[in-house]
Amino acid sequence: VKVFIPRDTTALAMGADDVVKALKFQSKQNINIIRNGSRGLFYLEPLLELATSNGRVAFGPVEVDDVESLIAHGLLEHNIDKLQNHPLYLGLTKDIPYLAKQDRLTFARAGIIDPINLDDYLSLDGFKGLEKALNLNNQQIVDEVKASGLRGRGGAAFPTGIKWQTVLDAPASQKYIVCNADEGDSGTFADRLIMEADPFVLIEGMIIAGLAVNATQGYIYLRSEYPQAKIILEQAIKIAYDKNYLGKHICTSNNHFDLEVRIGAGAYICGEETSLLESLEGKRGLVRSKPPLPAIEGFLGQPTIVNNVISLTSVPIIFTKGAQYYENYGMGRSRGTLPVQLAGNIKQGGLVELGFGASLDTLINEFGGGTYSGQPMKAIQVGGPLGAYLPKTQWHTQLDYEAFKDIDAVLGHGGVVVFDDTADMAQQARFAMEFCAVESCGKCTPCRIGSVRGVEVIDKIINHDNQKMNLELLNDLCDTMELGSLCAMGGMTPFPVRSVIEHFGSDLVKPSLAKG
Ligand code: NAI
Ligand code: SF4
Repeated sequence: VKVFIPRDTTALAMGADDVVKALKFQSKQNINIIRNGSRGLFYLEPLLELATSNGRVAFGPVEVDDVESLIAHGLLEHNIDKLQNHPLYLGLTKDIPYLAKQDRLTFARAGIIDPINLDDYLSLDGFKGLEKALNLNNQQIVDEVKASGLRGRGGAAFPTGIKWQTVLDAPASQKYIVCNADEGDSGTFADRLIMEADPFVLIEGMIIAGLAVNATQGYIYLRSEYPQAKIILEQAIKIAYDKNYLGKHICTSNNHFDLEVRIGAGAYICGEETSLLESLEGKRGLVRSKPPLPAIEGFLGQPTIVNNVISLTSVPIIFTKGAQYYENYGMGRSRGTLPVQLAGNIKQGGLVELGFGASLDTLINEFGGGTYSGQPMKAIQVGGPLGAYLPKTQWHTQLDYEAFKDIDAVLGHGGVVVFDDTADMAQQARFAMEFCAVESCGKCTPCRIGSVRGVEVIDKIINHDNQKMNLELLNDLCDTMELGSLCAMGGMTPFPVRSVIEHFGSDLVKPSLAKG
């Protein structure tokens, strides 16, 4: 009997290890348990899957107390007729609508394979993209990425191929590939999920990036809050070295590529690429002025590709299936797929990878199933703590970088956090300023001082202290931060604040109580 129980952070947090222990004990070890990654259906974790001749069938969410009844229903005998009557039976995993309706390109293997089993990876097109890239020259590799239309999935959506071109064209004897795995946005987990479910795809994407620009050293800058990802990545990197994908010799080429995981220390700002590079160099995570761009002067002053995990993990399929295949998904200038992360007050939280163009409504209702509390939805924050709060009138917006820009919002890293009607949006506006005050690197005044003043001014508004004047002051402060900050931290904090003023003003300025 072969069953799958994930070892990713979410499943572990929901008690997956205890379920494994109970299964081993109650089956008297007469069971083969594979610790896969998560499929991303977090509301069903721990998701237990049983291998059958028709494919894998799922049960979830499984708790320790369910193990006895699963065994009584014939888990160890493969008694599908009887198991179908188990209350946690979900049918064939691939047919669960939440999964079946997705476009799984980047996450094609997530939850299917044992993350550190190289044979599993190879059996599902693993390292096929690298094989293709090895037959191309530098410019051809970069051109393929350009043709795919891939844009930076960390949030800024800068065309990946153009970034690679800049690094390729920069003359230097040493270049670097740095993977930004400092996933700090609230409500996001796509980077973590793929690193824990399919680490080889990140390794493959980084090797291809190295080949493209002749970089021989890569770093994965991983946030310290992801210890499980560190374990899995390091196991995968060791295997990749043992099998000569990393190190002195890659397949048939003479190139070599070394890769190392470096751990951050918990600062949100170290997700900003230049402070990430400072931190990687062993210094305090202070933002650098741009220019020079990291593509010209990055790690240790050398040309460096800094890409987010999802940008890099999207690269192998572009080579395996061709740029056109990837480019065929999406709308407008947003090509390919976006892994959206549903979180907050939502019934069915998890990862939904879809071609750009789906509406927010579809995501939160068709996939998310509405709020977890059952209360009506009030606001949706898209794009992390620096993203705008969207009111119902904007939920028809399609997932597209430009469509979001048109409504003064950002898609960012694809985080979607849902709030029900009990949320006090004035407190959310205050939180945005407070978050900025706590996380500011302190280098520039609009952000360092502005965010502290922002909290004070919002407190005054909430406390009905001269509301009219303080609201004007808050708007001025937002202008100053937006126009005068050195990086997106201070520059984007006004987004959520302004969206509260514009769409949820009655939470901020309660007319009946207003004094000013
Ligand atoms: P940016 O627009 O300054 O730069 C985007 C990227 O393009 C950078 O890597 C930059 O170096 C590169 N670039 C720009 N012009 C280039 C050129 N001519 N040649 C080569 N490369 C070029 O944006 P930034 O500050 O890097 O990122 C801000 C975004 O980060 C925000 O939109 C936000 O959504 C996102 N973000 C993501 C977080 C996460 O956890 N993933 C956390 C916080 C913010
Ligand atoms: Fe530092 Fe904030 Fe200025 Fe960015 S905006 S450089 S985080 S002080």
